[in-house]
Amino acid sequence: MKNKRTVLVTGGAGFIGANFIRLVHSTYKDWRIINLDKLTYAGNLNNLNGIITSDTYRFVKGDICDSTCVESLFAEEDIDTVVHFAAESHVDRSITGPADFIQTNIVGTFTLLEAAKKAWLGAKENVGNKCFLHVSTDEVYGSLGETGFFTEKTPFDPRSPYSASKASSDHLANAYFHTYGLPVKITNCSNNYGPYQFPEKLIPLIFNNALHEKSLPVYGDGLNVRDWLYVQDHCEAILAVIVGGKTGHCYNIGGNNEKQNLNVVEVVCDLLDKKVGPMSSGKPRKSLITFVEDRLGHDRRYAIDATKIGEHLNWQPKMTFEQGMEKTIDWYLANRAWIDNIVNGEYQNYYDTMYTRG
Ligand code: NAD
Ligand code: TYD
Repeated sequence: MKNKRTVLVTGGAGFIGANFIRLVHSTYKDWRIINLDKLTYAGNLNNLNGIITSDTYRFVKGDICDSTCVESLFAEEDIDTVVHFAAESHVDRSITGPADFIQTNIVGTFTLLEAAKKAWLGAKENVGNKCFLHVSTDEVYGSLGETGFFTEKTPFDPRSPYSASKASSDHLANAYFHTYGLPVKITNCSNNYGPYQFPEKLIPLIFNNALHEKSLPVYGDGLNVRDWLYVQDHCEAILAVIVGGKTGHCYNIGGNNEKQNLNVVEVVCDLLDKKVGPMSSGKPRKSLITFVEDRLGHDRRYAIDATKIGEHLNWQPKMTFEQGMEKTIDWYLANRAWIDNIVNGEYQNYYDTMYTRG
């Protein structure tokens, strides 16, 4: 297998995609990276500062649902690896407006699979060195009770329009492997956190509100559990799957870091109190916690069994939750302009609509 690659990254201006491009750019300096991103509300080229002018990087503004655009990229570039991040990714938005999720997550994935099939499975092509990595979520497995873990064999049981659209795309990717022999690999990862995460998601949202001494919305009783993974650990797992994972296989990725939401919110508050001092009132930031109406169909608990990727590819998360949270809060404090740019823009309307309901 050749070492040098030409990688089509979809959604590379988003949270995980940008972290992935940064990791590839620093790890494999001779890999060519083509970033195809529509720049939706979640796409932000500031996430790629320092990379944009690199000779090995090309940005294309485009929609993964646009077959002409996607096929022309396969015609122009000698793409041997696709890392497919592009998606509508926020569960709350999927509840209020599922149509974009169906379009991008299902139709967009189908469009990419078709383009890769046409480009790679033509008569003269050698498919041996190709890899189509579909990046997915543990949410496809549904919701756990107090015990148990998701394994790669857990049946899909998606509960939100987001997770249902991701499950559909996973099924399509699998079908293209079994039916056409497209060299597909799939990863299903737990909740990520770290630099460049859009502030609609729990940790950066709580960071921003707590910093500005605004109320901290915790859904329901705050006891829902997520298995948190530092984003760079996720990106390293994806690289390990590209380089060493088996075609046609799916790999669960998780941090072995189960936390109740309330606990996560308290960690953010305590770190901020420590780093920037208590609020102007003298009270700790935890006092801002406000229990709000629960998310519809709110999955109770996610927990990943990541034994397979550990045993097959020797991957383990490097960052503990405590280290990862400290790094994350430090990053957001050092990059206030990045988050201010977002929260003072069109995101404000979303926030006001979402958090002033009822
Ligand atoms: P994100 O919302 O931060 O970024 C998504 C990116 O995709 C944005 O840059 C956006 O502009 C782009 N995009 C959206 N629609 C597009 C389209 N039609 N064509 C081209 N580009 C488009 O998402 P994220 O959190 O970085 O998640 C990336 C992927 O990882 C998603 O597939 C998500 O399902 C998966 N995932 C996320 C998590 C998590 O905790 N964030 C966990 C597991 C899996
Ligand atoms: P989120 O970051 O949206 O990720 P996901 O829904 O994909 O797990 O939410 C993480 C958890 O935090 C989830 O249980 C919902 C909860 N949550 C709140 O309690 N308040 C909030 O304002 C948000 C955005 C999420």
